[in-house]
Amino acid sequence: MRPSRLVLGAGGAVLGVALWWRRHPSACPYSQRFWVQAPHPIITRGRLVEALEPVPGERMLEVGPGTGYYRLDVARAIEPEGALEIFDIQQEMLDHTLARAREAGLTNVSATQGDATALPFAEDTFDAAFLVTVLGEIPDQDRALAELARVLKPTGRLVVGEVLGDPHMVTLATLLRRAEAAGLRLERRVGPRVGYFARLVPGSGAPTQ
Ligand SMILES: C[S@@+](CC[C@H](N)C(=O)[O-])C[C@H]1O[C@@H](n2cnc3c(N)ncnc32)[C@H](O)[C@@H]1O
Repeated sequence: MRPSRLVLGAGGAVLGVALWWRRHPSACPYSQRFWVQAPHPIITRGRLVEALEPVPGERMLEVGPGTGYYRLDVARAIEPEGALEIFDIQQEMLDHTLARAREAGLTNVSATQGDATALPFAEDTFDAAFLVTVLGEIPDQDRALAELARVLKPTGRLVVGEVLGDPHMVTLATLLRRAEAAGLRLERRVGPRVGYFARLVPGSGAPTQ
């Protein structure tokens, strides 16, 4: 076979897998964690912190930490009294992130395993919550956003990060439509639309995109 046909065939196969994946939301398996361990251009740690504005003493929730790309910056920003709760559907991801947190000397990170569509936390628990390249993996995104809105304090904020290239990317327009249904509105966006952090707060109103 000619090399050009081989390249075209391989490209088509990759596109086919990506399209299938997009239509069938599911958690990125721990065995494929190299995807989440790679550098995250555009949706950088600095931009997450800029959108989240963590304050010492706060109680934070991260849904879907994967192997913990963002945990260090957030956990450090809220210590010593603040606590970061990591929540993931896969226990292996939590074990991995907790081990890295301990290695880094962090003592304010704890973990709970479960599904984001049924958060095992009381109403008004968290000052802030965040999830990065997670929402699109959840089959019932509306339910997950409603759950996040429920566990946030009335003064809380939720930061959602998404990036182009992720087969499960949720566009900003889709996110805002779903967020409104969950009683959340956009306060501001950090980063371009192709790789954004949307800071959402309880309430309704015309979003500024
Ligand atoms: C693509 S990884 C993102 C990891 C990390 N946020 C990052 O950006 O490096 C998605 C993570 O969300 C988790 N996840 C997927 N569906 C979930 C659900 N329904 N409830 C909780 N966690 C979920 C996966 O197990 C995985 O750890």
